[in-house]
Amino acid sequence: ETGYITFDEGYGNTGSCKSNITFIDGEKGILRYRGIPIEQLAEQSTFLCSAYLIIYGELPTETQLNAFRSKVAGAARLHENFRHHFEGFPSKAHPMAVLSSMLNSLGCYYPEMSSNNREQDLELFDDAAALLISKVRTIAAMTYRMSLGLPFNFPRKDMRYVENFLHMMFTEPYDEYEVSQEVADALDLFLLLHADHEQNCSTSTVRMVASGGANLFASVSAGVGALWGPLHGGANSAVVRMLEEIHASGDDGSRFIMAAKNGKARLMGFGHRVYKNYDPRAKIFGEAAERVLKALGREDPLLDIAHHLEQAALKDDYFIERKLYPNVDFYSGIVLKAIGIPVEMFTVMFAIGRMPGWIANWKEIAETSNKIHRPRQIYTGYTKRDYVPMADRG
Ligand code: SDX
Repeated sequence: ETGYITFDEGYGNTGSCKSNITFIDGEKGILRYRGIPIEQLAEQSTFLCSAYLIIYGELPTETQLNAFRSKVAGAARLHENFRHHFEGFPSKAHPMAVLSSMLNSLGCYYPEMSSNNREQDLELFDDAAALLISKVRTIAAMTYRMSLGLPFNFPRKDMRYVENFLHMMFTEPYDEYEVSQEVADALDLFLLLHADHEQNCSTSTVRMVASGGANLFASVSAGVGALWGPLHGGANSAVVRMLEEIHASGDDGSRFIMAAKNGKARLMGFGHRVYKNYDPRAKIFGEAAERVLKALGREDPLLDIAHHLEQAALKDDYFIERKLYPNVDFYSGIVLKAIGIPVEMFTVMFAIGRMPGWIANWKEIAETSNKIHRPRQIYTGYTKRDYVPMADRG
């Protein structure tokens, strides 16, 4: 009845799955990647450095980070045939549907890395990991350009991770997209804060698929499908649409809070399966939203409404009794909006950020478990009964 399933991951016991990648304490609002608090990483690390930590378990030395960075930079381009894949989609296809399909298709261009022969897939893991972290950006940017009927932009080898993505998204012919440091820093922080999060819906999906021996490309493709749902990764765009509706109605959020309390609306970006305290990422994003808007000399009325909703909800018994606090999605959409990312791409941005976590969890399963995940159920259907011939049916 709790919806909490247990499965045996080959440790000889039946219980929750074990992992040494990310630790969360929901009561205390603690999040650590490989033991390092998210607050320290947000302050001192970068997305690629944290991706290396999550995947390989240790912070990289300068040499290791430079090697990882150049591996990622060198893997950004897609095979020319991918143009035909994009041409096969309607221009307004949902970017998460495109992403999930493209990630699985990617494996077809690297059959040696997607062999489903575990030993071989692990042997080529480093290349596959760097390739997915790099190309997920290229696919996302091409999907966005396709939706607007714009020419694709080739990735550049002289650009860093987020700058290259923004270049592929927004450079127009004869008009190089200039990336401000504030925007680049805000996007890098967005990706870092999404990089992993224990056994969430999409990561558990990746582990489930990996446990059957499927390759990394198929597993992360399944993770994209799970992330797409509005209760999970789709929440960041749902938050901005909620704030826009509140703003358009002239409400400061008070009426919306009432509707949420009466079960007539859901305060998107609030509540969490695990955090029964403030999601530490929400706190960091709240500050980042202020910072990036100030740096860009912009104001966003949605931020004021978000602050009002938060203050009102944190004082309201309905939310207090249910331990509902802002989660990662509450402010993150405002940061993306300030950067200029269109709302229909918000969940794709979440997927780009979560890629290292999915990769690390696939590796953990591939290296430590030879048991397929097979959750058990509580059967609530009919007891045994006989077949009824058509003539005797009602
Ligand atoms: C992410 O797992 C992860 O780690 C996920 C994630 C990650 O990094 O991977 O952190 C990312 O997915 C964050 C969550 C994003 N989703 C949203 O913001 C959608 C809005 N939130 C809710 O739908 C909900 O809070 C969930 C889905 C996040 C959690 O749901 P639970 O824990 O299963 O809670 P529930 O649905 O059983 O609700 C418990 C009560 C209910 O009221 P009662 O029936 O007791 O009267 O709380 C209420 C719910 O109606 N409630 C809300 C609410 N969330 C729960 N009421 C109003 N607004 C909300 N947001």
